[in-house]
Amino acid sequence: MKTVAILTSGGDSPGMNSAIFHLYKELTSLKIKVLGIEQGLKGLAAGKFKNLSLPELFSAQFQPGSYLRTSRFPEFKDLKIRKKAYGQLKKQKIDGLIILGGDGSFQGGVKISAEYNIPVLGIPCTIDNDIKGTNYTLGFDSAVNQSLRSIQELILTAASHERVFVLEAMGNKSGAITKACAEALSLEYLVPETKPDYKAITSKVKNNLKAGIFGQVVMITENQPLVKEEILKTLKEAGLDVRFNSIGHIVRGGVVSAYDRLWSKQAAVFLTQCLQKGESGYLCSQQQKMWLSPFSQLVK
Ligand code: ADP
Ligand code: F6P
Ligand code: MG
Repeated sequence: MKTVAILTSGGDSPGMNSAIFHLYKELTSLKIKVLGIEQGLKGLAAGKFKNLSLPELFSAQFQPGSYLRTSRFPEFKDLKIRKKAYGQLKKQKIDGLIILGGDGSFQGGVKISAEYNIPVLGIPCTIDNDIKGTNYTLGFDSAVNQSLRSIQELILTAASHERVFVLEAMGNKSGAITKACAEALSLEYLVPETKPDYKAITSKVKNNLKAGIFGQVVMITENQPLVKEEILKTLKEAGLDVRFNSIGHIVRGGVVSAYDRLWSKQAAVFLTQCLQKGESGYLCSQQQKMWLSPFSQLVK
């Protein structure tokens, strides 16, 4: 393998730049030339290749967002457009492609690896943590941390007024950010994955206020208009002072967490090894759960 190209596609996620930096280091240490592709799949079709340099990537790793820039490019579903992309890969003599993106981007990746004969691998990058086959996607931890900072600030004003905030978090159709934030702070929440019980939430909020926990925030996930309407209605009908807020895109531009920096390095090292072995059509994934480790193994 002589030349590998890297692109970022779909929604940007914190840690993408760190992943590009570590991939560049790993691949160039094997004397593989690494090119960036600007603007994701859109840039691939347009031939927007970019020479990368270690000093620039070293600085970029500290920033969220994508140094290569990214795009939503539905036109890539069209074979004619993909053929243009294959022409560009051929012209640049690219013999390996790494995609940093979400579930949508890998639909594109599946097609490239089936239609154009080079290894295509991916690092799952999305704040939504919603990709089948992996229990972690790069950027989720940073997005949760950034959300927690905003929520803590909201709780302070909520407490001053004994108000209830219904707060919407990003996630597309995934309640992962909502759930992680709410569980970390022990807040009430509603996610698309479970059936809503508005009355139960309202009664818990009322009990919390009665108990003197004045900063009440009920978290919901975006793109759930009925849930939003119903929870606001139910809380208001219970006589509570209610406001609605949305965290929004800010979570994509927060500080890149230590976890995401380290995870991106692990992914880059692993993916480079897989690429060398000639693997194609995979994203690197991680499965982990809590398990019991016996005390006895610690006895010296
Ligand atoms: P994410 O990768 O973050 O989930 P999107 O769902 O917007 O973001 O997908 C990113 C891009 O991947 C799309 O804009 C499009 O260029 C490409 N893509 C998505 N689905 C397909 C598909 N079925 N076939 C080809 N390309 C696709
Ligand atoms: O997939 C990441 C994400 O931030 C989702 O949580 C959200 O629904 C979507 O992207 C927003 O898309 P856009 O950046 O195109 O507004
Ligand atoms: Mg997606």
